[in-house]
Amino acid sequence: MTARSFTLYPPGREILDALREAIKDILVCPVCQGTLSIGEATLDVRCACCQRAYPIQDGVLIFLQGQSEAQDGDRRFRDALAAEHVRSDSKTLLEIVARHHCVPIMQKQAEKFHARFDPREWILDIGVGYGWHWADRRKGARILGIDMSLGNLVLARHLLGRENNRVVLVCADAAALPIRERSISGLWSVQIFQHFPPEVLHSVLAGLHRILKDEFVMELYNLNPALLHRVIYRLFGKRLPCKGKVGPMELTRLSAGEWAAFWQPFRRGRTRITCGYSELFFHPDLRIRPRRYPIGLEETLVAKVPRLTALFDRQVQVRVVSDGQAA
Ligand SMILES: C[S@@+](CC[C@H](N)C(=O)[O-])C[C@H]1O[C@@H](n2cnc3c(N)ncnc32)[C@H](O)[C@@H]1O
Ligand SMILES: [Zn+2]
Repeated sequence: MTARSFTLYPPGREILDALREAIKDILVCPVCQGTLSIGEATLDVRCACCQRAYPIQDGVLIFLQGQSEAQDGDRRFRDALAAEHVRSDSKTLLEIVARHHCVPIMQKQAEKFHARFDPREWILDIGVGYGWHWADRRKGARILGIDMSLGNLVLARHLLGRENNRVVLVCADAAALPIRERSISGLWSVQIFQHFPPEVLHSVLAGLHRILKDEFVMELYNLNPALLHRVIYRLFGKRLPCKGKVGPMELTRLSAGEWAAFWQPFRRGRTRITCGYSELFFHPDLRIRPRRYPIGLEETLVAKVPRLTALFDRQVQVRVVSDGQAA
């Protein structure tokens, strides 16, 4: 699967203007961290330092050009899946997303997260996938969505629309973030950290140390190794995948306590870490996918009896907040 397989349309003016702003504010060359500039006529971005050129295709700036990396099998798998949906409209794409994510809950969480930031600030979404969390964000803080799968990013551009200039999409490896030092105020990431092999996770953490401002908010969601979920699998003679390879990708499920311990050393002494849960009634692998999701009931139960819901909640939420002072 090559990048060319995805060509849908040339980027519109709004998308190029948004990319120009991202280049001015936050983007740097992923190889040498040099300053970038976008050609007026040519559809590429160049590094003033190492002279590398990076193409823009379907409104996506491509830093990752098929280099071999730790997750190559995972990336090819996602590109191949994306290629099957390249002609789907945005309604169909959202239906595909709804098979794997509880859209009403997560769009609400994304809206609340986005509202925390000033319009001049930048939020980074690592592993933005189809970009659906940001479908209705037409003003406020700008979002840089990065993903290693160009196929997913092309679908994201399609789902978000050509006029949406709040979201800039970049094909890059999270292990080599093409982002300027201390330029990012928010980090959002849904079901990505669980897929990082250890060496990638190590590089991602080093990158986050470099790019996050002194004051930042992170909100991360990953799959919970819920006890009841594990028991149900056992009853059917199976094992809930919690650590190891699932098809071409790594998967590690950690509990809220394990994620809290994981984030403790990050900017140690300057952060507050809180954990929560979500997607109590959404378990696609067990074919539990309510048509009308009971958001209110989930919110009440998760707030009132967190320990009980933790036994079955599908996702762990970790929020790491730094106000730039010692905590
Ligand atoms: C489970 S999907 C979730 C996508 C999206 N966050 C959502 O909620 O729909 C994981 C995404 O992370 C991306 N990804 C995984 N490892 C990555 C890496 N090292 N760098 C960039 N993207 C990565 C994959 O390509 C995929 O789009
Ligand atoms: Zn460079």
